[in-house]
Amino acid sequence: MMIDAEKLTRSYPRLGVFAHRARAFVTGKPYFFNRQRMRLRVFRDISARILFENYVETGTYLGLTTRFLAGEAKRRQASVYSCEINDDYYRIAKGTVGAIENVSLHCGNSVDFLRSLSAKVSEEVNFVYLDAHGRSYLPLRDELLVLRNWPKTVIMIDDFKVPHDEGFGWDKYDEEREICMRYIAGSIDSTAIYFPAYEAAAEGAAIARGYCVISTSGRYADMLDEISLLRRFK
Ligand SMILES: C[S@@+](CC[C@H](N)C(=O)[O-])C[C@H]1O[C@@H](n2cnc3c(N)ncnc32)[C@H](O)[C@@H]1O
Repeated sequence: MMIDAEKLTRSYPRLGVFAHRARAFVTGKPYFFNRQRMRLRVFRDISARILFENYVETGTYLGLTTRFLAGEAKRRQASVYSCEINDDYYRIAKGTVGAIENVSLHCGNSVDFLRSLSAKVSEEVNFVYLDAHGRSYLPLRDELLVLRNWPKTVIMIDDFKVPHDEGFGWDKYDEEREICMRYIAGSIDSTAIYFPAYEAAAEGAAIARGYCVISTSGRYADMLDEISLLRRFK
């Protein structure tokens, strides 16, 4: 019998996380980062080079990526901050990751969340995972307008259109709201933007999801330049 891990998590958060992890073990795909295996390798390559002090996520949903980041953060005595706008998901995430010591969960709009976090972390070394998608208001541009003032930060944006490979899926809600370079142009004066240097097929064509990685720091851009799985866009 197939267990629906999403449904299970809604009713029994901890058991649901266990089911997600068991499925990841069987399939060999991570239970976080949109289940993207190659993306996890990229994250590990980034993480091996940069000593992050904070891991920040927008769009907690069930807390799956939050949980993974909490493990990474623990090894470095770093902190995780995640934000969810939906009350029900926030409640579920409280159950999946709320008790983890280094995790702070916030209920509300991601842009307000990032603004309020600025005073505490903007001068620190941050990994930020932007994944607050799926509602009528797409906060991406406003999120980036806050993050442009965090000078030691690496940002990963999920569901992003990869310009040179449409085999990677991306989010497009209408003609205006499409997660792509055109949409974020002007929202960030980043020193560098990167896309996967591998083909979507390497992820498994049917499930490959696009992303981009942005560095707000020239020094970190030099480090990202060394990662062979990333291709510099600008
Ligand atoms: C794709 S899911 C996130 C998945 C999660 N990051 C993970 O990797 O498991 C997107 C989540 O963002 C939330 N969301 C959408 N707009 C938001 C906003 N403006 N602020 C905070 N959360 C938002 C949605 O309610 C949804 O739970």
